Amino acid sequence: MDLTGKVAIVTGGGKGIGAAICRKLAKYGANVVPLDIDEPAARSVASEVESMGRKALALKTDITDKSQVDAMVKQVIGSMGSVDILVNNAGWDKLAPFIETTPDFWDKLIAINLKGVLNCCQAALQPMIERKSGKIINIGSDAGRAGSSFEAVYSACKGGVIAFTKTLAREVARYNINVNCVCPGLTDTPLLGQIKADPRGAKITEAVQAATPFRRLAKPEEVAGAVLFFASPESDFITGQTLSVSGGLTMM
Ligand SMILES: NC(=O)c1ccc[n+]([C@@H]2O[C@H](COP(=O)([O-])OP(=O)(O)OC[C@H]3O[C@@H](n4cnc5c(N)ncnc54)[C@H](O)[C@@H]3O)[C@@H](O)[C@H]2O)c1
Repeated sequence: MDLTGKVAIVTGGGKGIGAAICRKLAKYGANVVPLDIDEPAARSVASEVESMGRKALALKTDITDKSQVDAMVKQVIGSMGSVDILVNNAGWDKLAPFIETTPDFWDKLIAINLKGVLNCCQAALQPMIERKSGKIINIGSDAGRAGSSFEAVYSACKGGVIAFTKTLAREVARYNINVNCVCPGLTDTPLLGQIKADPRGAKITEAVQAATPFRRLAKPEEVAGAVLFFASPESDFITGQTLSVSGGLTMM
């Protein structure tokens, strides 16, 4: 798989799965924009990418703010020349029974996990449509395919991301743009660390691991491998698809 000279924006690229995606795309030749609200983390990943001989641009951007996202895409085109690949990876979650949650909590989940994806897709699509070329990969979750206890609104957002992926794929295929979705199962990242700090989260993590045919969590780089495939020319005739990277926990 060869991504030489391609420019990839990775949201939430400072940590966890996003950082692994940055490293993986750079390994296969891409110039990478790790974008995050955590600027030091984005800078650290950008340094790693540069040490691999690629160009990198670390950006502090909050994906929930449309004006910041629009400005970010302009800056990337100004500095890096194009946007060839967009990976919508940034996400957030906190376990809670739905009955105990508040509208403010729902708004935060929806803003990051669903509206953030819409903001980034709309901003990056304009230049992709003009060039009649592009790859968009949305990071969903198996919670959005199969449901997941104490993640009702998060699951709704991820289910929304999966449905959005399919519809957008239909709309932009005429411009030679692919839109696909990768759904990680439980993956060893800082986010999972926060979830496991809650006794309910620790119990669920243990149960999921026991129910997974491979009997372990995913490594971030394993999720990144699926993203690499959808970012590469090897997937040029694949669009609107959802691929789980969950050790066989979900088969659909
Ligand atoms: N870890 C898992 O078990 C798991 C399972 C299924 C799906 N996912 C999904 O994978 C993606 C990555 O998760 P992770 O586990 O690596 O999370 P993480 O918390 O370890 O990393 C997410 C990164 O996104 C950044 N971020 C959060 N809000 C942002 C915002 N508004 N704007 C820009 N950046 C923002 C964070 O600062 C962080 O660096 C998420 O979409 C998550 O929902 C994770």
